[in-house]
Amino acid sequence: MDLKGKSVVVGVCGGIATYKVVEVVSRLKKMGAEVDVIMTANAQKFVTPLTFRSLSHRPVVTDMFNDPEYWDIKHISLAKKADLFIVAPATANIIGKLAAGIADDMLSTTLVATKAPVLIVPAMNHDMYANAVVQRNIEMLRGLGYMFMEPDTGRMAEGTSGKGRLPEPSSIVERACSILCPKQDLKGIRMVVTAGPTRENIDPVRYLSNYSSGKMGYAVARAASERGADVVLISGPVEIECPEGVQLIRTTTADEMHEAVLSSFENCDVLVMAAAVADYRPAEVSEFKIKKTDDDMVLRLVKNPDILKKLGTMKGSKTLIGFSAETDNLMENAAKKLEAKNLDMIVANDVTLEGAGFGTDTNIIKIIRRDGSITDLPLMSKLEAAHRILDEFCDMVAKD
Ligand code: C5P
Repeated sequence: MDLKGKSVVVGVCGGIATYKVVEVVSRLKKMGAEVDVIMTANAQKFVTPLTFRSLSHRPVVTDMFNDPEYWDIKHISLAKKADLFIVAPATANIIGKLAAGIADDMLSTTLVATKAPVLIVPAMNHDMYANAVVQRNIEMLRGLGYMFMEPDTGRMAEGTSGKGRLPEPSSIVERACSILCPKQDLKGIRMVVTAGPTRENIDPVRYLSNYSSGKMGYAVARAASERGADVVLISGPVEIECPEGVQLIRTTTADEMHEAVLSSFENCDVLVMAAAVADYRPAEVSEFKIKKTDDDMVLRLVKNPDILKKLGTMKGSKTLIGFSAETDNLMENAAKKLEAKNLDMIVANDVTLEGAGFGTDTNIIKIIRRDGSITDLPLMSKLEAAHRILDEFCDMVAKD
């Protein structure tokens, strides 16, 4: 891959894995990227700045104040010029500082100042990595859009085995490339994505709805569009900006969403039904505000159309991807829906888990395919989860 014209800032912390990042910088440089390295004071105890300077052919930033040539504007200029910021190895210390917004050296200051995507690659003792505070910080940062790589499991420097090793430099570079140059593997695919809740009116001032935020569906639309698909997003009422390049159709009720999906369906290849469509609506919508009385009130509900089920009967060669938000019997219920709605894939998530489901920026999903295969994913940002769903789709199509 050619990274010419791309600027990567690599923040290097102190740890036994520091030496492996030399290889990351070398590979990025060979691929044509301009690489600037910022080292913490501890990183310099493991590897000298000279090593990174020789490979990056650029001055290495080591200190805020000892290097008058750079200290005044460097953190802002590096923060601005970066197309991607990698922190590797990321220690518990830098993760904690970033989570708390602390900026007390060049690396933490530049990280706080940057608007570039940040890829954090933790490497530390496995007990440190498992520590609840470190995990909480990671989860919080993921929710804010910071990207993380999972450490490898294996033999640690101290002789024991566990999860905490820096991933291979080749994997880090591969991940960096996919962020810098998103693959265009969905070019030519026409995709309809639904998102958000529906609102079922009771009277002019009241409605029935659910807690869906629309974040998962919007993430799928954004990820698909970035990967080259033509995306129509049919959204219930949510407060999210439409991703660039995506055609937005706003709907309110399940009936409206039904109509919009039906009219877009013929011209699509894939339907991703992430909306939380209300199963029922009031049998009658009062023209005027219903007045309270001294009695209880009974609201009669009638069934809404099951949009996905209906499309399952007329899908032809199209791919149907459904979502299954559950509070119990997750896999069993999801598998049943896949069958009943004639889907190709269903994304199951237990909305009772912390960090999963409605409203959060993260999700914990399991992807079940028609052939029965299951991909069980850890907690990740909804955008990352969206990419994993699209990866599964591409893999499924390739195997067909
Ligand atoms: O049956 P359940 O509502 O749990 O199924 C969830 C899947 O079906 C989701 O993909 C959702 O968007 C879709 N659905 C639908 N129409 C409904 C209810 C759900 O398309 N009325």
